[in-house]
Amino acid sequence: MFMASRIQTRAFSASARNLSKVTVLGAAGGIGQPLSLLLKLNPRVTELALYDIRGAPGVAADVSHVNTKSTVKGYAPSATGLQTALKDAEVVLIPAGVPRKPGMTRDDLFNTNASIVRDLAKACAESAPNANILVISNPVNSTVPIVAEVFKSKGVYNPKRLFGVTTLDVVRASRFVSEVKNTDPADENITVVGGHSGVTIVPLFSQSRHPELSSNADLIKRVQFGGDEVVKAKDGAGSATLSMAMAGARMAESLLRAAHGEKGVIEPTFVESPLYKDRGIDFFSSNVELGPNGVEKILPVGKVDAIEEKLLDACFVDLKKNIEKGRKFVAENP
Ligand code: NAI
Repeated sequence: MFMASRIQTRAFSASARNLSKVTVLGAAGGIGQPLSLLLKLNPRVTELALYDIRGAPGVAADVSHVNTKSTVKGYAPSATGLQTALKDAEVVLIPAGVPRKPGMTRDDLFNTNASIVRDLAKACAESAPNANILVISNPVNSTVPIVAEVFKSKGVYNPKRLFGVTTLDVVRASRFVSEVKNTDPADENITVVGGHSGVTIVPLFSQSRHPELSSNADLIKRVQFGGDEVVKAKDGAGSATLSMAMAGARMAESLLRAAHGEKGVIEPTFVESPLYKDRGIDFFSSNVELGPNGVEKILPVGKVDAIEEKLLDACFVDLKKNIEKGRKFVAENP
């Protein structure tokens, strides 16, 4: 409802001169389908290109009947399918890859998803080198460095245009806090920093309206491991898809708003970041101001309390390994 009403009110403000092609790679999957639907409902999107190794033309035909103005095309693997899907894209969202099953961590997906993301990144570097690349495929802490390395190897890496999608972590944090406090989640703006798995996810409740929540270990754990609730409930049928689609569509919408000139658009996202380079961490998720060039400004983490300081220390240990693992993979499997 929230997305739909926001999209409706913006329908009148989207300018016809802003032509925005958005491409989804992995469009026929659990995330890809509802994400494609939400993008079709977004008046800022003028052309939607849906690619998957299976089923994208069917999803595209279905979504194309939704009566909004944008055009929708589906692409299957062929000599030029992926290339054409990517050509002239302003935003590319990548939810391609396998999701978790109960008992798995996101890192367990590495072996399968690393090569899928590497290969799609190669195609992006060749056919859409200037697009904003939004990586959803897990483990995000490693897949984003993989895309960076591939783009570097092709000589087209622009750190301002590469984003790991961590929006779902703030979406969850805001919802979970609203449940504890019996408030409207729209009023609960919770900063979450770090990475996108387990202890690398660091909610900063001390900066919220409820600073006392920073000592609520259960709530911290729920934000860090909220994805597990969905994996467990789906019982082998995958991980978050619907809430993830909403979060991914929100991130894409924010990028388009910023690209179309809106100021002060801020989203949390996992980007190449100077914030903790002195601790050996080259990629970090924090609030980022978006602009026409992608990353406009990486905002400082701000004041954290002693408990959060400890959470950050734990985050750095895993995050560093995850980032290294991604880089090493590309170095060894170019
Ligand atoms: P899914 O299995 O339902 O869909 C994945 C889709 O990717 C399938 O349609 C498959 O055919 C396609 N695919 C596989 N290889 C491909 C390739 N080389 N090119 C194009 N398409 C390809 O999985 P689901 O649930 O949609 O999840 C996708 C990914 O998103 C997983 O890695 C999952 O862990 C991740 N995820 C990320 C979240 C985040 O917050 N960043 C949240 C939830 C899931």
